[in-house]
Amino acid sequence: MHKFPPEFLWGTAASAYQTEGNNVNNDWHHYEQIEAKKPENKRKLAGICGQATMQWQNYEQDYDLAQKMGVKIHRLSIEWSRIFPTTDKPDEEALAIYKKQLVSLHQRGIKTMVCLHHFTIPIWVLQKGGFLNREYFLKQFQQYLEVVIPYLADEVDYWLPINEPNIVPSASYLIGMFPPYKKNIFQYLRVYRLMIEMHAAAYHVIKKYDKSAPVGVAFAYMHFQPFNAKNKWQQFLSYLSDKWANRIFFEAVVNGRWSFPLGWGAAAPEIKGTLDFTGLNYYTTLYLKNTGPVPFKKGDVITDMGWVVYPKGIYAILHQLFKITNKPIIVTENGTATTEESFRIDYYKSHLTEIHKAMSEGVPVKGYMAWSLTDNYEWQHAYSKKFGLISVDPISMERTLKKSGWWYKEVIENNGF
Ligand code: BGC
Repeated sequence: MHKFPPEFLWGTAASAYQTEGNNVNNDWHHYEQIEAKKPENKRKLAGICGQATMQWQNYEQDYDLAQKMGVKIHRLSIEWSRIFPTTDKPDEEALAIYKKQLVSLHQRGIKTMVCLHHFTIPIWVLQKGGFLNREYFLKQFQQYLEVVIPYLADEVDYWLPINEPNIVPSASYLIGMFPPYKKNIFQYLRVYRLMIEMHAAAYHVIKKYDKSAPVGVAFAYMHFQPFNAKNKWQQFLSYLSDKWANRIFFEAVVNGRWSFPLGWGAAAPEIKGTLDFTGLNYYTTLYLKNTGPVPFKKGDVITDMGWVVYPKGIYAILHQLFKITNKPIIVTENGTATTEESFRIDYYKSHLTEIHKAMSEGVPVKGYMAWSLTDNYEWQHAYSKKFGLISVDPISMERTLKKSGWWYKEVIENNGF
């Protein structure tokens, strides 16, 4: 049996846009309505977000089921465009609903982890150039931080300024997978740098109002490996990808340096030391061929996303992350898209086994968050991919704990499996 420490934080995670529903003031909504209808973009988005799981109205039901599973911590995000649907003043009602959600989690004995930015930005920021208009962006982001952080601080146990500061730049500006579908390495670097600045800005505002809650990041530390293990060029590509996708972030926030290619090594004192713990989002590995990345090899077990199931990757990354940061780690996302519950349970088991192994070798992993609490809007795939421990009927919005949810309940009860 894999036994976890008594204080281990078993958790679940979700994000605002993917669940709340009717978020009509952000960039994704804009792209869904306008851009995705253009023939050249159409095939890139499987559908619109629409009312999602109507979590905004139904959060009590979701948190009841989280409580039923015995969940110790839940991660949610705040939608910037809900707080500021327009540029001038915050929506007090929206703020109050977020606060109510946090209170209702606490009333159920569930700790809270709040993410301040999970992919989306307000339309009015997009209209001014979005991520590419650094000065305007940071000014407006600061305004949002100064409103939301002091208002919610009493009910937040852990803060995550940014979800995947490396994925927004790569998915949206390097590989053209997310809107605005750009493939431009200079824009990738600009946006990556901006996301690090956003992280640090949030860290400082949090510390101004909340001295006690730890601040982390939900980082998609990508695991790369050569397609052919002995190929020297592919080994070099793996090394370079690790550096350019992952390590440059920690060079900045841990060591306070803009290392190449984000910069030429200049000091960034305002960024340095802005991490109390590291949140890791992990799903898969990427094989690198001479011609570029491929998601799986013939014979690999793959998920409904077409990603290889590769639990050893999380083991390697946990060791690596601890070496780089020397900070406690919380797995802030891990899970699989599948309609087969036994597949989902096996996925969780195999990854938790590797996490347990890393912990037994001294890596301080303090918690684990299953992605996701409920089935939800999976970005470009819309509702076709099922990541949830709970299913949601798209018409009645009725929630049902899946087999994996019952299994997770048992794991939490026994503090292991
Ligand atoms: C994101 C989630 C997403 C999940 C599965 C992560 O990169 O943070 O929003 O649903 O991956 O694709």
